[in-house]
Amino acid sequence: MKLLAPSILSADFWRLGEQVEAIVRGGADIIHFDVMDGHFVPNITFGPVLLESIKRHCHLPLDAHLMIENADKYIPEFVKAGADWISVHIENNPHIHRTLQLIKGLGAKAGVVINPGTSLYVIEEALYYADFVLLMSVNPGFGGQKFIERSLDRLRKLRQMVNSINPNILIEIDGGIKEDNVSDLVRAGADVFVIGSGIFSYEDVEEQTRRIKKKLISLEAV
Ligand code: DX5
Ligand code: ZN
Repeated sequence: MKLLAPSILSADFWRLGEQVEAIVRGGADIIHFDVMDGHFVPNITFGPVLLESIKRHCHLPLDAHLMIENADKYIPEFVKAGADWISVHIENNPHIHRTLQLIKGLGAKAGVVINPGTSLYVIEEALYYADFVLLMSVNPGFGGQKFIERSLDRLRKLRQMVNSINPNILIEIDGGIKEDNVSDLVRAGADVFVIGSGIFSYEDVEEQTRRIKKKLISLEAV
């Protein structure tokens, strides 16, 4: 099953509740939260309080992509706030085994994230115990960036690694994904599609969510 995970980073925060309702009606499967601390990445966004208020009104699983230092310290708060999926970067979490076990122990799905410039072999070991892997197809920090083309080859290679090590793992891809490159990404082996500006920059957010979701469903049937 291919899952659509709109990233609220590109939403209009003035109308956030309304826009979350729109993606839910449009068929979103998961809601992706880009948590940034101004240290690991240059941008600052939001923390657990935002997940907490959306969780109160929305039944979809919440996916927290942590682009922060000292993730271990904040993971319990994110779970308490309602995060169902939590992912941390391999680049700044050297004790990845411990961190992923911490997430799983608290009852959430644990993911390892890898930046475009990091060798895929660095996450090989984590594939034995992660629930999902998030492949970045832009450098993290901002929405609306251009898809880095090398990511397609990396996705194919990651698909092979996952198939041979732990086929139960889901592959999530994030950055520069639009209606016109999802088909390449489905073919290359992605399962979960994070889309920010490719949904929220449209006037009709619900309709754009529905279009992409329909496309994913039709590609899956091929
Ligand atoms: C980048 C974030 C992405 C971003 C995707 O640091 O991880 O989730 O919001 O946005 P688009 O789809 O606009 O590239
Ligand atoms: Zn993200």
